[in-house]
Amino acid sequence: MLAGILDLDRDAGLPLPEQIYRKIRAAVGDRRLAADAPLPSSRELSRQLGVSRNTVNAAYELLAAEGIIAVRPGARPRVAELGGLDGAKRELEEKTRAPQVSRRGEGLCRDVRTDAYADPLRRQGRLQPGAPAEDCFPRDDWARALRRAARHVSGGALLYEDYAGYPPLRRSLAEYLTRERGVRAKPEQILILPTTQGCLHLLAQVLSEPGDCAWLEDPGYLGARAAFASAGLNIEPLPVDVDGADASGVESREPPKLIYVTPSHQYPFGCRMSLDRRLQLIDRAREAGALILEDDYDSEFLFSGRPIAALQGLGSGDEVIYLGTFAKSMLPGLRIAYMIVPESLAGPIAIAQRNAGLLGNVHTQAALADFIESGHYRAHLKRIRETYEARGRMMVERLRDGLGNRISVDFPIGGIQLAARLPPDVDDRAVVKRMVTKGFMLAALSGYGLKARLNGLVIGFADASEADIDAGVKALVEAIGTG
Ligand SMILES: Cc1ncc(COP(=O)(O)O)c(C=O)c1O
Repeated sequence: MLAGILDLDRDAGLPLPEQIYRKIRAAVGDRRLAADAPLPSSRELSRQLGVSRNTVNAAYELLAAEGIIAVRPGARPRVAELGGLDGAKRELEEKTRAPQVSRRGEGLCRDVRTDAYADPLRRQGRLQPGAPAEDCFPRDDWARALRRAARHVSGGALLYEDYAGYPPLRRSLAEYLTRERGVRAKPEQILILPTTQGCLHLLAQVLSEPGDCAWLEDPGYLGARAAFASAGLNIEPLPVDVDGADASGVESREPPKLIYVTPSHQYPFGCRMSLDRRLQLIDRAREAGALILEDDYDSEFLFSGRPIAALQGLGSGDEVIYLGTFAKSMLPGLRIAYMIVPESLAGPIAIAQRNAGLLGNVHTQAALADFIESGHYRAHLKRIRETYEARGRMMVERLRDGLGNRISVDFPIGGIQLAARLPPDVDDRAVVKRMVTKGFMLAALSGYGLKARLNGLVIGFADASEADIDAGVKALVEAIGTG
């Protein structure tokens, strides 16, 4: 009767009465033992199991005390009546007991990466877009900055006092971004969160109602799409060409509440937004009463010339929320990003940030402030700019050599990934799938389009050694064919 249920393990280190108790309890819980089923008497079970009667009695006493079995003098113990549930009811009960996400939760749990990545569960692979070079990370300087931070930060900063961000980092960033990116920012307007994704998520929730309209570059960043979709926004495509996002012809049924753009380095195409287009976008946002979310994720390492002025500094400062991250210039694992919000919104959004628990690690923030102030950050950026430029060039040259007219790809103007176009007879998602089996995690360009029909690949180059590039191009030649 208890075959397969009560196989005891004498080497488990768990007392035998406890093992018997747990196994019977589990079997009742998952219905292998039905309600009212008879159990062996303690004498019989002790004989079957080769244990003392006291051992079985101890287990039965525990089960009886919890109401899992009923023990009556002179009768065999039985599994307790479970409220007279019949089989069908029980099945239903089991189903409803399996935890489920809510309707709202379904939106929050949707993985938009499936559109671009062959295997979104796979979190890492060679030539992955968005991955900075681990071998360029200044481990020693960073370790020293972290050590200083761990030794010197004290008081309220280590508790919850500075939930919007560690004040010295907010000051350093205000000064650095005003100088380098032409933004308008007081330290109080800078909120520090773990990721840009967290910023986008929070902003979409705080600044819109479900059903509101949001414009998103087409093709555009999947993280922004996820944030907008989970806030229940209607997403309107903002077309992109070589001059960046073009708002001139967009006529959405309703005016947008939010407009997401990547002006200094369009994601995923990699172009810059022209000055005309930037000024025009600010005008459109003003007319609509919309806020522009300017994602400036990698402008600090454009390879030639200075990055274009930030949109945020072009307008009055109130039309734009500027977003930056250390996930590209340092490492995603630092989990530090920031946003500059209009003064009137800084207080309320900081409270929402605290309510959502989107707070940055204080030691990391202190180390970053130190890193920026001491000039290490600037030196690090200079180094990675050179390395990334060389890797990007090599990637393009090898792709062109290996695939000839089967691929169309330009030298990247900066950043850590590039977009390449494929001919119409090649299916980019099939290529991405084949590449995954060889350990490469490229993304399919088609997955980033809303209305735009695209066919190509997004390829990371920053973390690629020469051997990775050669192996990747060889695998691509096999996957695409040279025509
Ligand atoms: C356009 C763009 N913005 C933001 C980010 C991510 O920043 P974070 O890791 O801080 O969310 C990425 C990462 O790939 C990105 O491509």
